[in-house]
Amino acid sequence: GGEDELEARPPVVTVMGHVDHGKTKLLDAIRKTNVVAGEAGGITQAIGAYQVATEVDGQERKITFIDTPGHEAFTAMRARGAKSTDIAVLVVAADDGVMPQTIEALNHALAAEVPIVVAVNKIDREGADPTKVRGQLAEYGLVPEEYGGDTMFVDVSAITGVGLEQLLEAVVLTADAALDLRANPEMDGQGVAIEAHLDKGRGPVATVLVQRGTLHVGDSIVAGTGYGRVRALLDDHGHNVDEAPPSFPVQVLGLTAVPGAGDSFIVVDDDRMARQIAERRASRLRMAAQAAGTR
Ligand code: GTP
Ligand code: NA
Ligand code: MG
Repeated sequence: GGEDELEARPPVVTVMGHVDHGKTKLLDAIRKTNVVAGEAGGITQAIGAYQVATEVDGQERKITFIDTPGHEAFTAMRARGAKSTDIAVLVVAADDGVMPQTIEALNHALAAEVPIVVAVNKIDREGADPTKVRGQLAEYGLVPEEYGGDTMFVDVSAITGVGLEQLLEAVVLTADAALDLRANPEMDGQGVAIEAHLDKGRGPVATVLVQRGTLHVGDSIVAGTGYGRVRALLDDHGHNVDEAPPSFPVQVLGLTAVPGAGDSFIVVDDDRMARQIAERRASRLRMAAQAAGTR
C-alpha cells in the first residue's frame, strides 16, 4: 500500500493553557467523564488522550484530544503536546484572562506551526470578560475572526456546557479548511508514546498515539528502548480493542520496558527483530552517556 490508499483520519487536537483554566474539565464535559475529580490537588500531571465523536453537518466526525498540564513545572509536556498535534485549542479562563502559561502554550503552538482555536472558558463566572480576552490575545497576534482576523474564538463553559458544540465544530472546520489529514490504515502502525509508566500488576503501560497505519494486538513493536508483543490494547475508557487505526490513542500492554514520553514506536516483523532494534538503541544511548561522562 502507498499514497493511493490514504484515507481521512481524525484531527489530533492538543488542549493547552494556564493552570486551572479548565482544560480537563472541558474534556470531561465533552466526554461526560470526571477525570478532574481523580486528580491530586486538581492539577493535571501527565498527558491524557481521548477520542470523541461529534456530528457536523449531519456527518459523524471523530476528534482526538490530547490534554496537557497547565502547571508551570510541565513546560516539556506542553512542548511535546504541541509537536504531535494537528491543531491547538488554547483555553483561557474568561475571569482570569491571559496568564504566563497561556503565552507559553501559544508560543509552543506557533513554534509547531499548528492552527490555533481559542476556547474562552468559564463564561458562566461572575467577572467573566470574554471581550477582554480577545483584546489581550489580539496583542499577541491571535486576532479574532469577528475583528477581521483569522483566529476562531469560541465562548464556552465546562460547567453549563454552553458553547461545547460550537467548539467541536470550530475544530472540525479548522481541520477541513487548513489541513489535509490522511493516512493509510493498511500500513504497519507507527506513532508516538505520549505517556508511560510501570503498573504494579500489568507491567509497563504506554499510552501511544497511532500516527500512521494500524496497530494490532499481537504486533511486535519497539517503543524507545522497550520492545515486545502487544498483549492488549485499551481505549480511553479502558475497554479492550483489537486494533488502533490512525489518530487513535491506546494503552499498550506487553512491553518489556517503559518507553520515554515522546519516544516513537514502530511495528516490526517479529519479536527477534524488535529485540535487536531495542538493544541497539539502548547500547547507543549507553555509549552516548559514556561519551558525555568522559568529556
Ligand atoms: P491543569 O490541568 O492543572 O492545568 O488545570 P485545568 O486547566 O485542566 O483545569 P481544571 O479542568 O482542573 O479546572 C480547574 C477548576 O476550574 C476546577 O475546579 C473546575 O471545576 C473549574 N472550572 C473549569 N471550567 C469551568 C467553567 O467553565 N466554569 C466554572 N465556573 N468553573 C470551571
Ligand atoms: Na487543574
Ligand atoms: Mg487539567
